[in-house]
Amino acid sequence: MNTSMRLLGVGFLLATVGLAGCEKPPVEVVQRGYRGTGMEQVVSPGAFQEKVAANQAPEAIPAVPSSGPKAKDIYQNVQVLGDLSVGEFNRLMAAITEWVSPEEGCTYCHGMEGFAADDKYTKKVARVMIAMTQRANETWGANHTAPTGVTCYTCHRGNNVPEYVWVTEDAPKMPGSFAAHPTGQNVAGVAGVGYASLPYDPFTPYLEGEKDIRMAGDTALPTGNRKSIKQTEWTYSLMMHFSQSLGVNCTYCHNSRAFANWEQSPPTRLKAWHGIRMVRELNNEFVWETNDWLPEHRQGPSGDPQKVACNTCHQGAYKPLYGAPMLKDYPNLAKQSAGSKKLIEVATESESASASAATTGGGG
Ligand code: HEC
Ligand code: HEC
Ligand code: HEC
Ligand code: HEC
Repeated sequence: MNTSMRLLGVGFLLATVGLAGCEKPPVEVVQRGYRGTGMEQVVSPGAFQEKVAANQAPEAIPAVPSSGPKAKDIYQNVQVLGDLSVGEFNRLMAAITEWVSPEEGCTYCHGMEGFAADDKYTKKVARVMIAMTQRANETWGANHTAPTGVTCYTCHRGNNVPEYVWVTEDAPKMPGSFAAHPTGQNVAGVAGVGYASLPYDPFTPYLEGEKDIRMAGDTALPTGNRKSIKQTEWTYSLMMHFSQSLGVNCTYCHNSRAFANWEQSPPTRLKAWHGIRMVRELNNEFVWETNDWLPEHRQGPSGDPQKVACNTCHQGAYKPLYGAPMLKDYPNLAKQSAGSKKLIEVATESESASASAATTGGGG
């Protein structure tokens, strides 16, 4: 064999080894719409398996009878869970501990003054959280959260505060400039918006405020809603957050030849539309309710609480925990109790899309 033949052989060997290593394509393309519309999802099987492993629901605590004396007959200070049987009440306390404070245990919410006292801020927050979880399941079930449903674990996953939360940030300083960038554009390196060089905080205007989520208009003259490049950039920033939170491409909710067109959008977009309204309500009517009790280290630079976004529940999955139906094992969290309703009087929100038409896009 001459040298060039030998090299060829080595080359062939390398090519075969290389091919063997590439047996599994690094990405797969799944068609979700009509052929030729480009409505496909690009998934990486390896990364997907890792995400599935990281999004497993814990095993449920065995059920207990709902008969017998009620919590309100035995305990002194039960404002939202009074109608549970004592057995169910204690089972839920054990579950909450596993979901929110597995290391600290019951004492994370209950202090020296006994179980009935409200001496710890964490207990008062937890009471609002119970009402919030019930609300997310009952009122938003049909349009967004059912049948999978929401428990404390959906967001907390064993952490005192969920891993994915946001606060209204001071505008980051631009390298080489004295002042903060006035509009928040072109700030790379912000994880919440996929590290895109887009406005860094789409959360405050859209997931707390009710700014219009729009881009270029569809009429020749400006009519009502203000359309500008700036507004488009803010909208795209939010959309990056959607895609990243759910682990999907834009085409999971849009036909990319006509982003704005609802008739060409799959039903997932409507789910997302309701999701936006749900998140606004959870933040404004519940999370903000806890702000007076929070220690400073649980607040943002402007003194606001850490709030909910899409990734707080979704954490990279198109359905939280890939649709593991945890809620069915904890039916006490599925419906608002009379006490929960009393604790939080939710302002009746108008769900019409036109309600926010008068407002402008974020940032300007
Ligand atoms: C994350 C916070 C949290 C943790 C952890 C927690 N609890 Fe509670 N607990 C609460 C809240 C909130 C209430 C009040 C419920 C209501 O108002 O209906 C409560 C009430 C109680 C009461 C009723 C006391 C009374 O007389 O009013 C008992 C008993 C109790 N918890 C036991 C436990 C036990 C036992 C554990 C540990 C296994 C535990 N809790 C862990 C938040 C918590
Ligand atoms: C939709 C997401 C979501 C769900 C569901 C949820 N939480 Fe929270 N939780 C948050 C956010 C956001 C914060 C931070 C803001 C705050 O403290 O009010 C928080 C904070 C807390 C804190 C304060 C912890 C600390 O150390 O400051 C407690 C306690 C808590 N949650 C308990 C619960 C319990 C109990 C449940 C279930 C009944 C629950 N949460 C369900 C989002 C959620
Ligand atoms: C999980 C679903 C979802 C994903 C993923 C998603 N979007 Fe959206 N998008 C929506 C919804 C819902 C609206 C309408 C919001 C509203 O009206 O409140 C919207 C609105 C828009 C608009 C404004 C249309 C108009 O009316 O002017 C644009 C542009 C857009 N999306 C682009 C994108 C891009 C680009 C991506 C990928 C980076 C993306 N979207 C990913 C759900 C999604
Ligand atoms: C309180 C938790 C929670 C929050 C916050 C949340 N979602 Fe969801 N979402 C769910 C649950 C639970 C489901 C699964 C419903 C089901 O079983 O079909 C879901 C399903 C969806 C789906 C349908 C997925 C599919 O394949 O059918 C879309 C799209 C979606 N969410 C978008 C969003 C967007 C966008 C946001 C932020 C604006 C958001 N969600 C915020 C809990 C949440």
